[in-house]
Amino acid sequence: MDLIAALKEAVGENFVREGDAIPHRNWADMAEMSPVRPAALVLPASTAEVSAVLSLCSRAGQKIVVQGGMTGLAGGAHPQAGEIAVSLERLQGIEEIDVAGRTMIACAGTPLYKVQEAAKEAGLHYGVDLGARGTCTIGGNVATNAGGVQALRYGVTRRNVLGLEVVLADGTVLDGLNKLMKNNTGYDWPQLMIGSEGTLGVITRVSLALSPALPAYQSALCAAASADDAVVALGELDRLFPGRLVTFEGMWREYMDVTASMGKTREPFAERAEITLLIEAALGDDEAAQDQFAEALAGLLERGLISDALIAQSLQDRQRFWDYREANYEFDSVMPGAIHLDVSLPTAKMDEAIDHMRRETEAHAPGRIFIAYGHMADSNLHLSLFPSKTGEDLYPAAEALYEAVGRFHGSVSAEHGIGVLKRPYLSRSRKPEEIALMKGFKRMLDPAGILNPGRIFAAE
Ligand code: FAD
Ligand code: LAC
Ligand code: ZN
Repeated sequence: MDLIAALKEAVGENFVREGDAIPHRNWADMAEMSPVRPAALVLPASTAEVSAVLSLCSRAGQKIVVQGGMTGLAGGAHPQAGEIAVSLERLQGIEEIDVAGRTMIACAGTPLYKVQEAAKEAGLHYGVDLGARGTCTIGGNVATNAGGVQALRYGVTRRNVLGLEVVLADGTVLDGLNKLMKNNTGYDWPQLMIGSEGTLGVITRVSLALSPALPAYQSALCAAASADDAVVALGELDRLFPGRLVTFEGMWREYMDVTASMGKTREPFAERAEITLLIEAALGDDEAAQDQFAEALAGLLERGLISDALIAQSLQDRQRFWDYREANYEFDSVMPGAIHLDVSLPTAKMDEAIDHMRRETEAHAPGRIFIAYGHMADSNLHLSLFPSKTGEDLYPAAEALYEAVGRFHGSVSAEHGIGVLKRPYLSRSRKPEEIALMKGFKRMLDPAGILNPGRIFAAE
């Protein structure tokens, strides 16, 4: 029997698609690469089916690309020629919530927003939130160790995962759905799977740690003159509201200029700030909470750490504030051909690094727009370089930015992963011995090299 016939037997005739029957959503993720139609699309609906699919592909030496919500920004889920796409989209659902133990077990293909809603309905909170929440899957979040806009309070995905069920390349099912906070029984192998970008196994179910629900958020936009000032302000707010400061995002002036040019937002302040901060604290939404928040911001104004502040008076105001921060989702359609970096930079060096990068952009790509924004509190900035015309070579300038990341002891990927787009830069953030160890894990767990080949490092 040929492989396609065997796959149809394993998951059902309707759930192996070929040719034009493969929807476009499975041809490309969000990394802005040219779409590629996979050799076939397989849609398993259970762990047993994922196991059968991998076992068949392994024996046939068939290469696979693992697909979740296809919102990834490093090209990990983007098909390469000849690969069969294995999509987790049918493996959805919340299987269990343990309110007393504050845990949840969810299937890997469950969209993030459904995990968040289920936690909320149980009177709890799932601490990872990102703009792609409506489409990205919990399995994809784990595979990329997603960060997002609440990492300041709850950490990145890794901190919110207690255990995993994973299918290895040969079809072996590993049940590591630990629900205990403490479990020191040998190697914690699920940790290795978190952030492995589909190269070591297919995540089928996840055991999540939930957090207590916090009160409603107070939100503000603030103007800061430097990252140094912003970081002192961050420390002060954290001191005043321990455990309640949830979001602290930064948007540098060029980001606000590009956002304003799209015509969808109004200028927040009379003067363009060096950094516009979006700050949220879970203090409640009554008058006392608002006074407490306003007083804290007044203190920052008095100390000269911020020069202006707007406090949301309604949910509409809050959404308006988020419109600035989420304007980046439309940049690629307004200005296609940009190069995007997702880096960590030590907070203490952020001002110096941004100034250096501005100069480097001017030297290597004069007149082009360089923007910086992102998860300031986590030292994680998103940087983009926009071309003035399509097809313009921005790589020398991007190269200079990566040089700068090294010079300031940053990391070439803070949250989006390596995938294929960042592969040439892996060795800037990892030593040869570390990469050799990673390749050793890959060889051990996927000896035939069928799972997401060429992601993170070149296929062997
Ligand atoms: P996909 O794109 O489908 O896959 C991503 C990688 O994981 C691929 O390598 C894929 O092979 C692998 N994979 C997917 N599912 C599985 C599985 N079940 N088992 C094994 N491997 C698997 N990221 C952040 O970290 N923080 C942000 O704030 C953030 N904001 C974003 C905002 C927008 C608007 C967009 C479009 C993206 C954003 N991202 C962000 C990037 C992206 O959403 C995350 O990386 C997300 O976690 C990817 O989930 P996904 O289900 O879409 O995965
Ligand atoms: C964000 C994505 C790009 O933070 O990670 O908006
Ligand atoms: Zn981000």
